[in-house]
Parts: sequence; structure tokens; C-alpha cells
Amino acid sequence: VAQTFAAWQRDTGLPLEIAPAAASIPDANEILVRNHAIAINPVDWILQDVAIFPWLDYPAILGSDVAGEVVAIGADVDGFRIGDRVLGQAVGATTNRPAHGAFQDFTLVLSNMAARIPASLSYVDAAVLPLGLGTAACGLFQKDHLALNYPSLSPEPTDKTILVWGGSSSVGCNAIQLAVAAGYNVITTASPHNEELLIGLGASAVFDHSSENIVDGVSQALRGNDFAGALHATGNMLHSFDVVSRCIGRRFVSTTLEPPANRAGNVETNHIFATSLKDNEVSRAVYVDFIAEALASGQFRAAPPANVVSTGLEGLQIALEVQKRGVSGTKIVVDLGNSHGD
Ligand SMILES: NC(=O)c1ccc[n+]([C@@H]2O[C@H](COP(=O)([O-])OP(=O)(O)OC[C@H]3O[C@@H](n4cnc5c(N)ncnc54)[C@H](OP(=O)(O)O)[C@@H]3O)[C@@H](O)[C@H]2O)c1
Repeated sequence: VAQTFAAWQRDTGLPLEIAPAAASIPDANEILVRNHAIAINPVDWILQDVAIFPWLDYPAILGSDVAGEVVAIGADVDGFRIGDRVLGQAVGATTNRPAHGAFQDFTLVLSNMAARIPASLSYVDAAVLPLGLGTAACGLFQKDHLALNYPSLSPEPTDKTILVWGGSSSVGCNAIQLAVAAGYNVITTASPHNEELLIGLGASAVFDHSSENIVDGVSQALRGNDFAGALHATGNMLHSFDVVSRCIGRRFVSTTLEPPANRAGNVETNHIFATSLKDNEVSRAVYVDFIAEALASGQFRAAPPANVVSTGLEGLQIALEVQKRGVSGTKIVVDLGNSHGD
């Protein structure tokens, strides 16, 4: 490749700037992906505005979600071939390596944080998954979180119920599907217009988070259930803690943001760090052993649905601004237009 480009974050408070990036050679456990579509997450515009990760040097290449084509493979990688169509969770904001960021033409992806995608799934649709999937997987499956059974293509019912607060968010849609694939009954919250989407993903009941008696309503629905914990994806966190404090079973809320100090006292909690699965067995359980086949069989869907708002690396800044204004049951995606047959 002659010259590759990235959308650089030179410093906080500046818009992205398109400029050359170094060509990368995969380490032993990495694949090099030619990106065809990139999705946007809240942390991207947060890191554009504020240096919330003290270890992350600017200029940085931000972004977590890529879908594209494998163009080079590290020496120890056996699950991928050149030309494979893949999705990947990019970890540059954790490793402090621009080559690991998503917002560029080519991204180095850890082979345990990537999966092949079926021919029926476009790059644009595949790009909605990685960070939402990884975040939900940390919360549901890590031993320091809910420690649920792993997902499988033929789940064994557990007769246990979990609560996903904010089911129409990106993390929520993935959490619902992963928990169902692990054999759990899932109750969730969202705006009424997203109910059909979430029932389609396998939730057994959807409660309107804006209703005045939401805590009572969800608590009543959980009464008599063997409770396996909650994943708070988004919304009012105190409500999640209040509901869980009344449950029989595992009183634990796994949270995407720092838990509030004035939460209910009889509930355990832990704050997810969405790339932590790269260093434990959960990445294997989800990215390596599950998601490729689950997507191919139709058991797992790319959700929330993609909304392509712009094209090319130049389109990333607009996409950040659209995500920052807020979304409802959609994922903002940039189509890089590199695609063949997309
Ligand atoms: N700790 C980590 O490692 C990590 C990783 C990923 C994400 N996060 C954080 O997790 C959160 C979710 O991220 P995401 O990408 O999944 O978000 P997202 O897709 O942007 O979330 C959109 C959803 O938020 C819901 N929502 C918006 N305002 C709400 C309110 N006032 N009450 C209840 N729901 C509301 C909407 O639901 P309705 O339209 O149905 O009302 C909408 O569908 C963010 O705060 C993000 O920063 C943390």
C-alpha cells in the first residue's frame, strides 16, 4: 500500500484531521484489516472533547468499531485468512497505539477481538457490533461482573432472569442477545417505539423507562423470578439499583458508567471497562467461539440497526456530531466506500 490515511485527533477540543498514518505490520496475534465501515460510540466524541483516559496520548487515532477485509496476518494467527470479511473491536484507546485505532483506512486488530462475518451481512451492518458486543460481554460474563454462563448456538435454559436497563442502546441490544444465547430470560427497559426491536432480539418484556412507576413495574415483573443480576447499559442508574435491591437472587448491577454514591446499599456492583475481555477468556467465548457462527446461523443480529450518515474518513466528524446529539435504537455508521460487493 502506497499511502494510508487516518482521521487524527490532534488534541482535545479539535475536529478530526485527515492526514497520513504509518503502514502497520501485524504482531504475532494480530490481523490487519482494511476498513470498509466504521461505527461511532459515545466514548469517541467524549475523547474528542475531554482526555478521560490519562494514559492516552494525543495525537491519537480514536474509534472502536471496524468491519472490513483481512489484508495481513500475524505469525501465530490461525483463525483467519487473507481476504476474510471480518468485524473487529479496535483497542487503540486502551493500548495507546494509533495503529490499533478504528478511525483510519487500516487497523491492527487483536485476533481474539475479531470474527468472520457471513456473506449475507454487509460491512455497514457488521460495524454496529464490536464495542457494544464487547461491553455487554464484559458485564455479563466476566468473573468480576455477572459471571453468567457463556453464550452458545444451542443454549440450555437456566430458568434465571436478568435485567438489561436501556435495552435499545448499542450495549443493550448486544446484552439482550448474548444473555438469551446463554439461556437466560431477559427483561429490559426502553422507549415504547423500540419495544418491537427488543422483543425481536429475544427480550421477554420491555418497560417504558420514562413511566412514573417504572421501578415498581419492573420490580413486580421480576417478583418470583430467580434473579441473576442486572446490566445497566444506559438511563437512570438509581432505578436499576432500586429494582435490584428488591430482587431475590443475585443482587448485582454491572454498570457502563461509574455507579452513583447514593445507590441502594444492599447491591454489589462493578464498572465495566469494555476492552478488559481482550485479556481474559471472555474474548474467546464471544469473539472466537460464538459470534461468527451465531451471525451466520441468524441466531444473532446486527443491532441496533445501522444509520449511515456519511462516507469516507472525512465523514467521521459529522458522524461524531450526530451520535453526540443522541440516538434511539440506531447505530451511527460511516461507509468508507472501499467495498466490493457491499
Ligand atoms: N464502560 C465502558 O467500557 C463503556 C463501553 C461502551 C459504552 N459505555 C457507555 O454506556 C452507555 C451506553 O452506550 P451505547 O453506545 O450503548 O449508547 P447509545 O446506543 O448511544 O444509547 C442510545 C440509547 O440510550 C437511551 N436513552 C437515552 N436517553 C435516555 C434516558 N434519559 N433514559 C433512558 N434511556 C435513555 C435511548 O433509549 P430509548 O430511545 O429507547 O429511550 C437510546 O436507544 C454510554 O453512556 C456509554 O458511554 C461504556
